[in-house]
Amino acid sequence: MDMTADFNEQKLEVSSFIREVFSYINRFKGQLFVLKIEDSLMDNPLFPVLMRDITLLHKAGVKVLIVPGTRKSIDKQLVAWEIESKFAAGIRLTSEEALPLIEQASLGVAQRIMSHLTASGCHGIQGNWVMARSLGIIDGVDYMRTGKIERIEKDILEHLLSEDFIPILPPIGWNKLGHAYNLSSTELATELCKYLVVGKLFFIGSENGIRSEGLKTGQDTKYLESTDSGVISALDIDQAEEILKLNPNLDFAQVDYLQNAIRACKAGANRVHLISGEIQGSVLQEVFSSRGDGTMVYANQYSSIRPATVDDIPDILRIMQDYIAKGYLIPRTQESISEKLSDYVVYSIDNAIHGCGAIHAFEDGSAEVAAIAVAANYRKSGVGAAIVRHLIATGRMKGYKKLFLLTTQALDWFYPFGFRDGTLNDLPPTKRNNYNLKRNSRILILSLETK
Ligand SMILES: CC(C)(COP(=O)(O)OP(=O)(O)OC[C@H]1O[C@@H](n2cnc3c(N)ncnc32)[C@H](O)[C@@H]1OP(=O)(O)O)[C@@H](O)C(=O)NCCC(=O)NCCS
Repeated sequence: MDMTADFNEQKLEVSSFIREVFSYINRFKGQLFVLKIEDSLMDNPLFPVLMRDITLLHKAGVKVLIVPGTRKSIDKQLVAWEIESKFAAGIRLTSEEALPLIEQASLGVAQRIMSHLTASGCHGIQGNWVMARSLGIIDGVDYMRTGKIERIEKDILEHLLSEDFIPILPPIGWNKLGHAYNLSSTELATELCKYLVVGKLFFIGSENGIRSEGLKTGQDTKYLESTDSGVISALDIDQAEEILKLNPNLDFAQVDYLQNAIRACKAGANRVHLISGEIQGSVLQEVFSSRGDGTMVYANQYSSIRPATVDDIPDILRIMQDYIAKGYLIPRTQESISEKLSDYVVYSIDNAIHGCGAIHAFEDGSAEVAAIAVAANYRKSGVGAAIVRHLIATGRMKGYKKLFLLTTQALDWFYPFGFRDGTLNDLPPTKRNNYNLKRNSRILILSLETK
């Protein structure tokens, strides 16, 4: 094996990863991330690492608000005082005698988060910013001191966030008379998306996403991508709803996540992520690369193929550069791309460009598929195939009789799309006359004429 080539390849991968991180930092600077963190993670040896990663995000300019989950601490407290935990429809019933213990447990969890923030040089802050009222009696069940959220003091929170504080909101709310109510932290995190402009909402627990194994899929969910660990990478709202509908036997935790993610997206959150706090670096991976290990439900367009714009040219050149250097693609320049810019498309994930391709029309009614390239760290994810399928569809739509392409390295890759071996005679005259005999590229053709 050529060690130098291998080393150079690794260096290129590192630099493209660093570029990717920079592009994400620029995009997320000033955005608000709400993180609901399960208290069951707090005894995990990796918890300080998770908290440090969160403070790194904050130091990079992301606004952070934390809602601690409190279920485990409350259970522990109630067991210690021999008070039975009762639930109805998944909601805890809060008796008068349990409430002070629940408050104590919730505030204790918030305090532990505060300690971690302090240790990383960040300023956490707690307060009475959630107004609540009694959940009342539903279907004959009295929920006693379990409450529901009435209002969140948005202006105060916005002010604190603008001053670089990290607000910590344990799931306790108060009514006008100052009576406390026990709230669901999942609901609180979701409800915050109605009041604040939330870029990302994270549910961080022991689950790392919606597992794809055994999942029934339908019309909208036929082609879902999975991560290496077998969880679905991303779902839009319709897909998340279809998964819920087709899989009535899904785990409660997974159903709960999907339902809340859909609600949060509908309430205004752009992206809702389910990640595991037990996997080192999971938050950073999910934020700084579109190949995180969790499941994301998104409200708006996440990945797309769209016509290239002038602003995309540096990215197109960047992606093609390595392949041009290796001789896989013919050299392009800023000028040659901008001359034919309307022929180019780019594949973007979360607004960052990871692939490109072009279709150039010729005088004989045929068109060339060219400049297909996928960024090194996004290869083998179906990006190249999506671009080729898009260009073939464009070719059909524009009424070209035939597509052709010239390749030195990706011959086998193009056959499954229907391309077949061709000869110089298959090329339009202008292309044939410019054919570089020294390069000796193979010619592939795809007829678009219907017989
Ligand atoms: C060829 C290229 C566009 C494929 O992009 P991609 O996004 O990785 O492709 P996909 O994810 O859709 O497909 C990946 C599959 O194709 C295979 N594949 C990738 N490049 C291949 C090649 N040159 N020859 C044969 N198979 C190839 C992969 O091994 C993978 O197979 P697997 O699914 O069994 O693991 C990309 O590797 C690239 O940019 N190559 C350099 C530029 C180039 O040669 N362009 C074509 C000339 S126009």
